[in-house]
Amino acid sequence: MNIHKVLVVGAGNMGHQIAIQTALNGFQVACTDVSEETLDKARAFFADWLKGRVAKQKLTQEQADGVRGRLTFTPDLKGSAADVDLVLEAVPDIVEVKKKVLREVDGYTPDRTIFGSNSSYIVSSRFADAVKDPSKVLNVHFFNPAIVMKTVEIVKGPHVSDETFATVIEFVKAIGKTAIPVHKEIYGFLVNRFVTLLVREAGYLADAEIATPENIDLAIKGALGHPMGPFELIDLAGLDLEYQVRMERFKETGDLADRPSVALISHVVKGEYGRKTGKGFYAYD
Ligand SMILES: NC(=O)c1ccc[n+]([C@@H]2O[C@H](COP(=O)([O-])OP(=O)(O)OC[C@H]3O[C@@H](n4cnc5c(N)ncnc54)[C@H](O)[C@@H]3O)[C@@H](O)[C@H]2O)c1
Repeated sequence: MNIHKVLVVGAGNMGHQIAIQTALNGFQVACTDVSEETLDKARAFFADWLKGRVAKQKLTQEQADGVRGRLTFTPDLKGSAADVDLVLEAVPDIVEVKKKVLREVDGYTPDRTIFGSNSSYIVSSRFADAVKDPSKVLNVHFFNPAIVMKTVEIVKGPHVSDETFATVIEFVKAIGKTAIPVHKEIYGFLVNRFVTLLVREAGYLADAEIATPENIDLAIKGALGHPMGPFELIDLAGLDLEYQVRMERFKETGDLADRPSVALISHVVKGEYGRKTGKGFYAYD
């Protein structure tokens, strides 16, 4: 596996944690964002997280210093992309945004660079033509929180070379994750196809006032043994993301069942995006 330097584009909910996980496992990493505020939050989280790891004796001070030395959060996309082997993008889940970012980064990276997209649902063949060599573009799907969750789906579209697929599977293992190869493209890959069913049904039941979101969550956790209910899960992922994803899907399929639920919309219009804003279906400190 010829991956040494990694660029993560987007330092939001997912990107900053993907960057930390990668640096933790010995890779040189830069993580960029267009928002200075997001970069500041990412730096603060990283500093706190390192301190916590040392306090809990999960890392020695020397190891923590090593991780700190390998990871930078920076607005400088061009400079950071100059010599990278792998780009992982974690920008909003909208095809045109993915394309714009990949097109720009492709202008700065060497020919050997592989591009992984952290999209939750969108298959890479929808945006792979944004770069010169689409055989190097694939889905590399982490779960939230990326430092904690073990699973990463690696999805091979028809345009992806065997070498790219194999290299990224090795990389995912090298950063301490469980690589789940997905051999054909399909909307939502594996896990989010199940999540979609659950979230869609939960929204329908809440909209029809058959049960409250709290009690739907309680039922799913208690009866199915899930660690979180569907509404808690959306609060963690971000209601804005869930809304974007549902709207994109609804525009594509025209299926009314794909529309965002009223319960979801009623929070999104108030700017209540879940944990990241302190309020969603639940309130957070
Ligand atoms: N939130 C989740 O639970 C979750 C889980 C798995 C995968 N994902 C996927 O990860 C991706 C990112 O989601 P998120 O929840 O981290 O979103 P987010 O909104 O928290 O972060 C996205 C970041 O991208 C930045 N950005 C936008 N345009 C950019 C550009 N041109 N260059 C650099 N940065 C740019 C934004 O400033 C923002 O900080 C999406 O594709 C999403 O589907 C999210």
